[in-house]
Amino acid sequence: MNRVNVGFLGFGTVGQGAAKVLVRNALEINRRTGRDISVKSAVVRNTSRTIEPELKDVALTTDPQEIINDPDIHVVVEAMGGDEPARSLLLQAVANGKHVVTANKALIAVYGNELFEAAREHGVSVAFEAAVAGGIPVIKSIREGLAGNRIQWLAGIINGTSNFILTEMRDKQRDFNDVLEEAQALGYAEADPTFDVEGIDAAHKLTILASIAFGVPLKFDAVYTEGISHITQADTAYAQELGYRIKHLGYASHTDNGIELRVHPALIPERRLIANVDGVMNAVLVQADAVGPTMYYGAGAGAEPTGSSVVADIMDVVRLDSASVDNRVPSLAFQHDALSDTRIVSKAEFETSFYLRILVEDKPGVMADVSRILGDEKISIEAIIQKEPDADSARVPVILLTRKIVEGAMDRAIAGIEALDSVEGNVTRIRVESLA
Ligand code: NAP
Ligand code: HSE
Repeated sequence: MNRVNVGFLGFGTVGQGAAKVLVRNALEINRRTGRDISVKSAVVRNTSRTIEPELKDVALTTDPQEIINDPDIHVVVEAMGGDEPARSLLLQAVANGKHVVTANKALIAVYGNELFEAAREHGVSVAFEAAVAGGIPVIKSIREGLAGNRIQWLAGIINGTSNFILTEMRDKQRDFNDVLEEAQALGYAEADPTFDVEGIDAAHKLTILASIAFGVPLKFDAVYTEGISHITQADTAYAQELGYRIKHLGYASHTDNGIELRVHPALIPERRLIANVDGVMNAVLVQADAVGPTMYYGAGAGAEPTGSSVVADIMDVVRLDSASVDNRVPSLAFQHDALSDTRIVSKAEFETSFYLRILVEDKPGVMADVSRILGDEKISIEAIIQKEPDADSARVPVILLTRKIVEGAMDRAIAGIEALDSVEGNVTRIRVESLA
């Protein structure tokens, strides 16, 4: 395969970003792979969409079959998103003997097991570096660079849109929806941005990271998922006052009880490197037995950063074309028949510290009631902030930091606190992760 033709299913932010990198760096890519890799055609819904000037020679079509069934196309890049028709088209491409590269984490997290099985059957590769953390080569690092390690846990800021929103809210006191609109205009957000702000996109990515870290099948449904839409500017300010930053975190760990998979906002001590990963940047911190902690940092979204990962995958699958399936790096890092169905830890068993914000009546005895309820569940308080009441309100926010406790106990304590007459509304709870 000296001349390699690539067909794109989807030619928006990621598709065109990758194609631009392929065109601009063609010489470097040839020097690295010994192959001429060119973009032959691309599928879009609307052929009058804006195309970057350097990609004017790419043939546009609205019919994916023109790519899937083109014998001259060796690699299919899927950058359309969603589950259907992407899933069916990729299964068809694989059955036609084409290698597949995808940026679609939703597809891999939910249908990856099926897709990898089909690829093995047909002797082709499915590569998905761009699906996690945009331009950061974190899949390759964990799957290959850390292959000799037993991975204990990993934690990542893996949704660029959420990180961008939280950073702008903290630094510029900007409004949530206003920043989200900007993230959409910059091409960071998913087609449905609730995937970003409700944690679903990060859960897709965490599913993939956990599989390649621990050698378990992809289990998207098992991820506990919480987004950032309930985080207020007041919480970001109180966190700062306590020496923390609020980040949206994906966390996976291999414990004695099984595998813990969770995605949620978290207070992280501001002295940690990962707490200082701002804007659209992502970072994944991996704790492994031989190497210790390593951290991977870079742009988590955007056209060319994501394109960089897509192009690296194209080069990889092209290089490995002549290798037998058994001599390729397994899709999920472990041999497919060596994946283990390890138990998933339930939410009630998670053990973390907590930040609690409680709106209470400004009168004697309220704090004693709150402390008694926490004490009954053996929850120790580590820090407390009580603010002055607003001029027009008899309520005051009380902010507590607790020591580590299992989530089941915290659920019971919060139910008890919310039932007090002197407490207004729901208690805001954010987990605290030391990531030490
Ligand atoms: P996008 O800008 O909306 O581009 C999607 C492209 O797919 C467009 O060209 C669209 O056609 C085409 N398309 C969508 N549905 C189609 C269908 N049913 N038939 C034919 N064409 C179809 O999206 P994107 O941001 O590039 O994201 C693409 C994928 O990459 C998603 O899976 C996303 O999660 C993933 N991803 C995105 C980023 C990022 O920074 N944006 C980073 C990493 C991964 P039209 O041009 O006619 O609209
Ligand atoms: N919407 C995703 C994000 C794109 O904001 O991280 C990159 O996967």
